[in-house]
Amino acid sequence: MKRLFSGIQPSGDLHIGNYLGAIRNWVRMLDDYQCIFCVVDYHAITVDYQVEAMRQRIFNAAAECMACGLDPGRCVIFVQSHIPEHTELAWIFNTVTPMGDLGRMTQFKEKSEQHKHNVNVGLFDYPVLQAADILLHKAEAVPVGEDQIQHIEFSRRVAHAFNSRYGETFPEPYHITPKIGRIMGLDGKTKMSKSLNNYISLSDSAETIRSKLATAVTDVNRKRRSDPGNPEVCNIYTLHRLLSSDSEIEYVNTGCRTAGIGCLDCKAILAKNMIAELEPIQQKARELKEHPQRVWEVLEAGKQTCSLIAVETMREVRTKMGLR
Ligand code: AMP
Ligand code: TRP
Repeated sequence: MKRLFSGIQPSGDLHIGNYLGAIRNWVRMLDDYQCIFCVVDYHAITVDYQVEAMRQRIFNAAAECMACGLDPGRCVIFVQSHIPEHTELAWIFNTVTPMGDLGRMTQFKEKSEQHKHNVNVGLFDYPVLQAADILLHKAEAVPVGEDQIQHIEFSRRVAHAFNSRYGETFPEPYHITPKIGRIMGLDGKTKMSKSLNNYISLSDSAETIRSKLATAVTDVNRKRRSDPGNPEVCNIYTLHRLLSSDSEIEYVNTGCRTAGIGCLDCKAILAKNMIAELEPIQQKARELKEHPQRVWEVLEAGKQTCSLIAVETMREVRTKMGLR
């Protein structure tokens, strides 16, 4: 079986963009690949954060991924900083990476804009650490949301550059992305993300979900109830396609185009389906949060398994580079 790797930042609160854009697809791939998932805390520290909250954030990310269906019996889950070889390999990859490549990364440009007061070298180097995450484990398949494609393509170039310089060592990884691209935020302007506060959290109550959806932006050209709308430009419709049944999707599609239904009717159906999808996840997450030891044990076992791979890869890398 091919090896699959993906990572998620411990951002404190996973949102439905993470779930629909990434985690739900990871769960569907568990039986087809040898799967490794990583809570990437070293990536998360490239922006300002509260030190006291980090441990809980790491725990939450792992617990919520497990609650979404990352079954530890069928995959490995670990924390990036528990395996020092990630940063060690990142340093080595720095030496085969042209600066210009990193300067072109969209995420770097966006984050430098958002965090003007703290444009640190780690933020710039972020994709190199990501390449190290994937290649340390010699993973080929990398399932991610659309926003990460550029980073996976960069990882291919890193693998290629290293192999050309030091001999065949790493596979060239490829991304697997869902058909429906990025999930937009409730503001309809930018992708859903924790930092922009335009998201629905996996842990939001039914009431919160209803009220967040009620004010979410739809087709901006549909100003009055009697105006027909265009589902293709409506984020609510995108979510319907990910969460509603075929007949409901058909109903809202036609209803919107003919002004047969209003945005509130459309949102009510979506809210019902979203709440139903999240209910079992929230139940499982509550159980895990009541038994935190179960989660820490999974992360410890993941560390043990992945350390073996990491040590082996680094031995090979140092040998090929003339460092032993
Ligand atoms: P992050 O929280 O940035 O580490 O993202 C974890 C995973 O969720 C990655 O595979 C991202 O590509 C994916 N993801 C995050 N936000 C979105 C979004 N708004 N739409 C689709 N996928 C997303
Ligand atoms: N950069 C990814 C994100 O923001 C997270 C990540 C870190 C990752 N390392 C990875 C994803 C390795 C896939 C593979 O979502």
